[in-house]
Amino acid sequence: MTTAPTGRGGKTAPVPRETFSSRKLFILSAIGSAVGLGNIWRFPYVAYDNGGGAFLIPYLVALLCAGIPLLFLDYSVGHRGRGSAPLSYRRLNRAAEPLGWWQVLICFVIAIYYAAIIAWAAMYTWFSVTKAWGSDAEAFFFNDFLKMAPDAGLSFDFVSNVFFPMFAVWVVAIVIMVAGVNKGISRANAIFLPLLVVMFVILVIQAVLLPGAMEGLNAFFTPNWEALQDPGVWAAAFGHIFFSLSVAFGIMVTYSSYLKRKTDLTGSGMVVAFANSGFEILAGIGVFAALGFMAAASGTAVSEVASGGIGLAFIAFPTIVSEAPFGAILGVLFFGSLVFAGLTSLISILEVIVAAFQDKLGWSRKSATLIVTIPIALVSMVLFPTTTGLQLLDTSDAFVNQFGILACALVTVIVLSAGLTALPGLQKHMNRTSSIKMGTVWRILVGGIAPVALGYMLINEIQSKSAEQYSGYPAWFNGVFGWGMVGALIIGALLLSMIPWSEKSKLHDPEYDEFEAELAADEAAEELKA
Ligand code: ALA
Repeated sequence: MTTAPTGRGGKTAPVPRETFSSRKLFILSAIGSAVGLGNIWRFPYVAYDNGGGAFLIPYLVALLCAGIPLLFLDYSVGHRGRGSAPLSYRRLNRAAEPLGWWQVLICFVIAIYYAAIIAWAAMYTWFSVTKAWGSDAEAFFFNDFLKMAPDAGLSFDFVSNVFFPMFAVWVVAIVIMVAGVNKGISRANAIFLPLLVVMFVILVIQAVLLPGAMEGLNAFFTPNWEALQDPGVWAAAFGHIFFSLSVAFGIMVTYSSYLKRKTDLTGSGMVVAFANSGFEILAGIGVFAALGFMAAASGTAVSEVASGGIGLAFIAFPTIVSEAPFGAILGVLFFGSLVFAGLTSLISILEVIVAAFQDKLGWSRKSATLIVTIPIALVSMVLFPTTTGLQLLDTSDAFVNQFGILACALVTVIVLSAGLTALPGLQKHMNRTSSIKMGTVWRILVGGIAPVALGYMLINEIQSKSAEQYSGYPAWFNGVFGWGMVGALIIGALLLSMIPWSEKSKLHDPEYDEFEAELAADEAAEELKA
């Protein structure tokens, strides 16, 4: 166990696990994690593409039936297990440890490409000032900025435009991580999140005042009720909610393990979930108001200018910035928001990995952070600031994010509900200190509805991803970086679980034994009262 001097006769005492110094800081950090790139550029397009205003119905159903129940599941696992994802699952049952490592490895893949997108956004914040893309934002992005190779592959032709901002992103992230939960993560969120909210609100106000904005909002909110009959629309809503809420890939398990023993878990979760959705809807309003302006300016329909993901942020938005009054300000606010939202999410993704190794091998915070994050940063900086970085990013995102997280969520709910029958215990744990009590409905949602919905979506995803070559990339490319990566994560998780826990690991933590004893005492007192 990591030790620190006590000052009494030179004896040493275990370094206690860090906790968020207040519930407010936990909520801020959890919102900082949830509100990320997914909210700003992904949600508006997913909503528009899947029924516009009508999408809000499957979205709300997905949020209430799967997103929030699984968020509570993550909270209860982390808070009960008082450890990183592998340790918390292991404390539920030895055989469940691989679930935690699977989530750690998903975070590893997301982290290495997430940093690249933050770096692009940082460069575009700067480009907005001079509108560096000139008259053709698309050609600028693919040819001048990314220097994209015509064919997907693995090249090591470095692109300095991307390399240097990525280096800066990694330095900032590592400095925050080394400082720990309170001095690093909490502080960064306490600074970046309010900044993000202020910038984003100004952006939305500026966007809705643009000529043509109302057309964009009409396109966004006009419900296409027929879309509700399409199972794909429901799948899109469920698929979006997990990534958006940072659920089912270890983040909330890890963050909630840093909460004090007596904390209102469900009350905090409600604040986080609704803040995340509120931000997402605000992003939809801002983005579509701006697209409405672009459509009006070019005399076309909003449907002509609305494009997905990367195209929306790095092609459509720069075009808007060029044409809008005070466009430079709009650009700085939009891309600056992406940077802040991305950074607070990136540190939460990295924390899953750092905490896991820290717990398993008994490393100090500083050693764990440096030993873990520097190699991740190197992998990220070797693969993504290259002429094939975009294709690699696209495939990893489509397979590991959209497919891997769903698969992991499905296996987790099945193992916890049917395999380990852990739900009643976790429900009891949450209810002990939480304001909103979970009843049988929560268990039905997690153990019944969620597996059915997730299973359905997963089958859908497997079918659509095997029916055609994703994005038209060569079969070997999707095979290695798509399917291969998904499989490698599962094998990697099993292998990491086999590494023995160090003598100094948090598995043998007297602080946890004390925690368990206190819980047992509470339970006995409750039984006596009953
Ligand atoms: N929840 C984070 C996002 O939306 C990961 O990007």
